[in-house]
Amino acid sequence: MRVVLVPFPLQGHITPMLQLGSMLHSKGFSITIAHTDHNPPNPSNHPNFTFVNLPDQLGPNSNPTFHDLLPVILGINNYCREPLHKHLSEMIENQERDGGVVACVIHDPIMYFVDSVAKQLQIPSLILRTTSAAYLKTMRINVELHQEYKYTPLPESRLLEKVSNLEPLRFKDLPSPLHVRIPEFIIQLQRDLINKGSSVAFIWNTLDDLEGLILSELQEKDNIPFFSIGPFHKLVPKLSTTLIEEDKTCMEWLDKQSLKSVLYVSFGSLATLESKAVVEIARGLAQSEQPFLWVIRPGLIKGSKWIEDLPEGFQEEIGQRGLIVKWAPQRDVLSHFAIGAFWSHCGWNSIMESASQGVPLICKPCFSDQRVNAMFLTHVWKIGILLDDPLDRESIEKSIRRVMVDEEGKEIRENAMDFKQKVHASVQQGGDSNKCLNELTDFIASLVM
Ligand code: UDX
Repeated sequence: MRVVLVPFPLQGHITPMLQLGSMLHSKGFSITIAHTDHNPPNPSNHPNFTFVNLPDQLGPNSNPTFHDLLPVILGINNYCREPLHKHLSEMIENQERDGGVVACVIHDPIMYFVDSVAKQLQIPSLILRTTSAAYLKTMRINVELHQEYKYTPLPESRLLEKVSNLEPLRFKDLPSPLHVRIPEFIIQLQRDLINKGSSVAFIWNTLDDLEGLILSELQEKDNIPFFSIGPFHKLVPKLSTTLIEEDKTCMEWLDKQSLKSVLYVSFGSLATLESKAVVEIARGLAQSEQPFLWVIRPGLIKGSKWIEDLPEGFQEEIGQRGLIVKWAPQRDVLSHFAIGAFWSHCGWNSIMESASQGVPLICKPCFSDQRVNAMFLTHVWKIGILLDDPLDRESIEKSIRRVMVDEEGKEIRENAMDFKQKVHASVQQGGDSNKCLNELTDFIASLVM
């Protein structure tokens, strides 16, 4: 049986889709990845998969940050429809010759065009939710609230109030703000991204131990099977999914540091920071006196090519105590003995990777789901602390010391270690995520019976 996977072409979305492909391949399925021209995966890293191309007409130089994603999403959903239809039709036509019945298509919710193509061809479709269940719950309420605040936006004075049914979230934590006007077509797009459409099941990169209650609540409404089999990276052999070259020299530097002494700092693949904030981060890191490994992706600092906007003399002042790289082998970094905490933008993959190693977090969300994840991490799961805006060097220094050294942060560090045990139990044979993967395998097989 063949399973066709359609990832959205950004790092945080391609990684879990390739990991899912690898899990399903290990269960005996043939895997085809239908990918866009933009950010194609490297086939040589996945010799067991077949790849088909979906021309997206985005042009060669598109390298979007979060703020210019809209045309990319709309373009891909428009231009990739026909090519996917053609590829799937050919696969169905040749399935006897190729020895693989197309059992289903699994797609990222941002690739919402897939739903209608699969429906037209009568192929079952499943959605891989690459974000947290907490985020989906929040977005559904957020979109309803947009109706309420359509004509009179929320006054800014209410931004710190808690949102009912969404505690501990405050209005300022909502992924889609209510205090500014959002065009109706964007709200419609948000609806498309949160609906189940004609999907027959949802797959989640999360685990019941963390989000069981929210998952049950969502499932009751959607009334389709949910398979929570996270953290994906713990259920697959090591897999290279990076779109940017990793600087592996940081591993040697980590080898020279002492146990749990290093703060790892990374803001993921899409976020950007004002240079003013970067100066505060640099000063806070310097003042904390903790060793740190800081990923500054080219383009992270707005208006700057790389690290030109760091305070003058910063690197000399830090010396060997800090290392800056353009991109790190993050999963290896987080499992290194020297890492004591992770200052993160709270992208969902980063959280799964950090929490499954028992690494506590300093949470500085930048946009969308990251704000929701940060509030759950700090107020519900209690494995991190929140750095609220505006960033200043004193609160940064204090947060670093609290999470890494001070007695005050002991509970957070212990909770993070407890969580590591829960993940370990969940991915073992007989554990929840492991069992759920077997159930998913049976479910997909049942689609062609
Ligand atoms: C995006 C959105 O920002 C996020 O909110 C959403 O949850 C997923 O898509 P991204 O910014 O890429 O995510 O963050 P994240 O989900 O954490 O994924 C980043 C991935 O890049 C992780 O798998 C991480 O291991 C990897 N990474 C990051 C590296 O390999 N090296 C680095 O230096 C930094």
